[in-house]
Amino acid sequence: RLVFILNGPNLNLLGKRQPEIYGAETLADVERDCAALGAELGLEVRLLQSNHEGQLVDWVHEAREAACGIVINPAALTHTSVALLDALNTFEGPVVEVHISQVHKREAFRHHSYVSLRADAVIAGAGTQGYQLGLRRIAALVGA
Ligand code: DQA
Repeated sequence: RLVFILNGPNLNLLGKRQPEIYGAETLADVERDCAALGAELGLEVRLLQSNHEGQLVDWVHEAREAACGIVINPAALTHTSVALLDALNTFEGPVVEVHISQVHKREAFRHHSYVSLRADAVIAGAGTQGYQLGLRRIAALVGA
């Protein structure tokens, strides 16, 4: 079974972008760690990143057919995107929202998440380890 790990704007720069906030690991490191954990859990993972809202909406639509669960770090779209929320509301499997930083310790505009209206779990402030925690939660919810 397949899990999509979706990533929003600017996360292609993970490891280079504000490392004091987001750490030194890159998205390639996250992909490697999640693939290894997925293998343990009996789940295949597909990690995708886009800077474009519509592309993320399209991937959620693709997940409707292809994936049993979604781990998503919507990045800035967390705080702005009704379109992404609407797309996630069409997905039937579990959704875990991940934020690398502890958004509730940061600016007030990061405290509200549209995606949280749909997410079955929210992980914030666990660094890039949050993706693996999210994957473990998906595994539990789908009985993997
Ligand atoms: C983020 C937090 C968001 O507020 C921010 O816009 C990001 C990354 C995180 O992983 O901590 O781009 O989702």
